[in-house]
Amino acid sequence: MKGGKPLVGEVVIGGAKNAALGILAAATMTDEMVTIDNLPDIRDINVMLQAIEGIGANVVHSASHEVKITSRNIHAMNVDNEYIRRIRASYYLLGALLGKYHRAQVALPGGCNIGSRPIDQHIKGFKALGAKVSIGQDMICVEAEHLRGSHIYLDVVSVGATINIMLAASMAEGRTIIENVAKEPHVVDVANFLNSMGANIKGAGTDIIRIVGVEKLHGSVYSIIPDQIEAGTFMFAAAATKGDVLIKNVIPKHLESISAKLIEIGAEVEEFDDAVRVVAAKRLGRTQVKTLPYPGFPTDMQPQMTVLLALSHGASTVSESIFENRFMYVDELFKMGAQIKVEGNTAHIDGVESLIGATVFAPDLRAGAALVIAGLAAKGYTMVQQIHYIERGYETFEKKLQLLGADIEKVEVDDPKAVRKFQMRVG
Ligand code: UD1
Repeated sequence: MKGGKPLVGEVVIGGAKNAALGILAAATMTDEMVTIDNLPDIRDINVMLQAIEGIGANVVHSASHEVKITSRNIHAMNVDNEYIRRIRASYYLLGALLGKYHRAQVALPGGCNIGSRPIDQHIKGFKALGAKVSIGQDMICVEAEHLRGSHIYLDVVSVGATINIMLAASMAEGRTIIENVAKEPHVVDVANFLNSMGANIKGAGTDIIRIVGVEKLHGSVYSIIPDQIEAGTFMFAAAATKGDVLIKNVIPKHLESISAKLIEIGAEVEEFDDAVRVVAAKRLGRTQVKTLPYPGFPTDMQPQMTVLLALSHGASTVSESIFENRFMYVDELFKMGAQIKVEGNTAHIDGVESLIGATVFAPDLRAGAALVIAGLAAKGYTMVQQIHYIERGYETFEKKLQLLGADIEKVEVDDPKAVRKFQMRVG
C-alpha cells in the first residue's frame, strides 16, 4: 500500500465473527433446519462450516452471507481436521455436542498466538454439569451420562467459557446459573440465537446468566449482529488517516468504549441509528487506555489503538489486561519509525508526526489490521506480509479500503512484478 491519503466515504460492516462462531456451533444442536444470515465470508467461519460438515451437518450456501444448516444426520462426535486446530472457537463444538449428544471429542484449539489461553473455566463448567473431561495428546473429550443444571461461578470473565457452558446447559436437565460471565455483544447474540431455537436463557449481557434446560431445540431464522471489531478497525483507520468515513451496518451502543476514546483524543464521532461517522481533521491527542472485558475497551482493538496513539501528539500508554502476549506487533511498528517501549503489559508511546513505510509481518489477526492502518497513514510504501491472519477475520479488507480511496492491493509475496505494477499505478 501507499500511505498518506485520508480515507473518505462509506463502508459496510459485516456480521460478527465471534458471534457467528458460537452460532454455527449452536446450529448443530437441532435436527431442524436453521437459516443464518449476515454470516461473514472469512477464513475462521469457513473453517467452522467445514468442521460441522465434516461431522455430518448439511450446509447450503443459500445466498450471499446466508447458510442453511441441517444437523439431523450428524454421525460423528469427533472433530479433528487440519484446519480446526487453527481456530480457537473450535471448542464451541464441545459445548454444543455435549449438550445435544452428551459426548464430544475436539482437537485442542489453536487461534492467534497472543499468549497462553487456558480453557480451565470451560472444563470447570462442563464438569459442574456432570460431564467427565479427559485431555489426550492433542484432543479434548467430554462425556456425560446425564447432563444436569448446576450453579457455576467463573473465576475469570471469559467469553469462550460463558458461551461454551451456555451451549451445553441449554439442553441440560434443570436449572443452571452462571455467575461472573462475559457480557460481550456476541455472548448476547449466541444466547438470542439459542432462545430463537427454543432455549430458555435469561440474563445474557448482565453478570449472571440463568438457564432452564430444554429437551429439544428447533429450527430458526436468524441474522447475526454486526462486527464490533471490524467497525472499530475502520473507525480507527479513518482517524489515523485524518479522514471522514461513514461506517454503516453497526450497533453504535456496542462501539461506545471505542467512540469514547476517539472523542477523548479529539476526533468527531457522530452516531446514527445503525451507522457512525468518524471525522478527524487534525492530528489527535494523547490518552491512557486499558483493555477490559465488555463494556470496557476491547483487547481486540488494542493494536489498532496503539497505532493511532503512535501517530498522536504526546505520551500515551496502552495496558493489556486480558492476554499476556499481545504486543508482538510493536517490533514491526519500530520498523516504521514508531516510538514505543513495552514494559510488562504496558506500551509507553511517544507520538510521532508520521510513520514511514516498511515491510512488516502481521503476527496475528488484529495486529495485522493495525499494521495496515499504520501503512495507510505512513509516508511511502508499506508491505504487510502474512495477511492470512487478517483474512481470518476481515472480509475483503483491501477492497473495502480501496472504496474509501486507499492505495492498497493484495499481491503475491513472491511477485515483484505485481509490486512494481502497483507502484507505477499509484505513483
Ligand atoms: C474471545 C474472542 C477473542 C477476544 C477475547 C477477549 C472468540 C472466538 N474470541 O476469546 O477475539 O480477544 O474473547 O474479548 O470469541 N481464561 C482463563 N481460563 C479459561 C478461559 C479464559 O484463564 O478457561 C482467560 C484467558 O487466558 C484470558 C481471559 O480469560 O486472559 C479472557 O479470555 P476469553 O474471554 O476466554 O477469550 P476467548 O474466548 O479465548
